[in-house]
Amino acid sequence: MSTELETLRAKVLEQAAELDSLRTAMSGSALVGSEQLRRLEALADASTVINSTLDLKQLLKLVMELAARSLRAEAGSILLKDKATGDLLFDVATGSSAEAMKTIRVPRGQGIAGHVAETAECVLVPDCDKDPRFFKDADKKSKFVTRNIVAVPLIARGQTIGVVEVLNRLEGTFDDGDLMLLRALGHQSAVAIQNAQLFQDVESGFLSTVKALAQAVDAKDSYTAGHSSRVTQYSVIIAEELGLDADLVRRVRLSGLLHDVGKIGIGDSVLGKPGKLTDEEFALMKTHPAVGGHILEPVAQLADVIPGVISHHERFDGRGYPRGLKGEEIPLQGRIIGVADAFDAMTSHRVYRPRLSDEVAIAELKKYSGTQFDSRMVDAFLEAFNKGLIVTDQSPPAGA
Ligand SMILES: [Fe+2]
Repeated sequence: MSTELETLRAKVLEQAAELDSLRTAMSGSALVGSEQLRRLEALADASTVINSTLDLKQLLKLVMELAARSLRAEAGSILLKDKATGDLLFDVATGSSAEAMKTIRVPRGQGIAGHVAETAECVLVPDCDKDPRFFKDADKKSKFVTRNIVAVPLIARGQTIGVVEVLNRLEGTFDDGDLMLLRALGHQSAVAIQNAQLFQDVESGFLSTVKALAQAVDAKDSYTAGHSSRVTQYSVIIAEELGLDADLVRRVRLSGLLHDVGKIGIGDSVLGKPGKLTDEEFALMKTHPAVGGHILEPVAQLADVIPGVISHHERFDGRGYPRGLKGEEIPLQGRIIGVADAFDAMTSHRVYRPRLSDEVAIAELKKYSGTQFDSRMVDAFLEAFNKGLIVTDQSPPAGA
C-alpha cells in the first residue's frame, strides 16, 4: 500500500512539475506574443508617421518619438550627415537634454553613431562604459548619462544619410528584437527623411531666387535699399500675430518680398525723383502692382502670391488702386502688406524727406485705421510693436 502511495505521490509531483513548466512556457509565449504584437504595431505606426508630413523638422521629431516609444527608451536622437564634412549633427533629440544635444557635432567616424554612419552596421551596446567607441563629449555637453544604446544607419537610395539611436531602455536591457525593430523603423524612415531634405533644399533655393529678385528691385533706388525685406519682415510678424497657418504665412512672406517687383518696369527718373510726381508720372507709378502681377504670371508656383502683389495699394475704404477694391474684397495679403509698406515708407529716409520717428508713424497708422488700412491689421501690428517685435533703423529721425 505504502509503495502504491509512494508511486501515486511521485506521479502527482511529476504532473505538477509538468504543469508548472507548461505554465512557464505558456506565460513566456504570451510575453513573446505581446512583444511581437507591440513591435508590429510600431512598424504599422511608422508608415502613418512618415507619410504625414514633408516638413523635415516635424518628420524627424515624429520618427524619433516613435523610435524611443517603441523601444521603451529614455531618450533618442537622429543625427544627419553634413554633406560637406561627413560629420554628424544632432538634428533632433528627445529626453531632458534635447536642447543641449542640438548644438553637438560628432566628427566623422567618431563614437558609436560615427561608426554606424561609416560602416552602415547596426549596433547594440549594452554597456557604454565598456565600449571604447562611445563618444563621451555628447554626454559631457548634454549632462545626460548614456548607459546603453541601439543605433542604426539611415540608408536612402544606397547612401547613408544619418543615424538614428535610442538610449537607455526604461526596463531591462535592449535585445536583438529591439535592434531589428529599430533597423526596420530606420529603413522605413530614411527615404521619407531624404525626400523631406530635398523638398527643403528646393524650397530654400526657391526662396533665395525670390529674395534675389526682390534685391534687384530695391537696388534700382538706393533710398529703398532693404525695403522689400523689411516689408516682408513686418508682414510676417503681422501674419503670425493674427495666428495665420504656416501656409498663409509663407504666402505673405513671398508676397512681401515681391510686392514691388513691378517697379522694375518704371524708369529711374520717376522712381528716384526728388520732388513731387506729375500726374502723368504718378499714373505711371500706379501701374506697378498690375505690372508686378503680370511679371509673376509665368511662374506657376507663385500663383497664390500674385493677389497680394496686385492689391498692396488698395485702401480699405475703396479709394486705392489699381481696382478700387473695398474692405475684405482686398486679399488678406494685400491688407497686411499695405500696413507694413506704409510703416516702412514712413520710417525710412527718402530722397525728398528724412525718416519719421516710430511714434509719428504709429500715430499715422492709428489715424488711418479703418479708412486706408484694415483696423485688424493695424491692431496686430501695434500689438507686435508693443511687444518689441518691430525694430526700425536707429539712425536719427526727422528733426533730431
Ligand atoms: Fe508698392
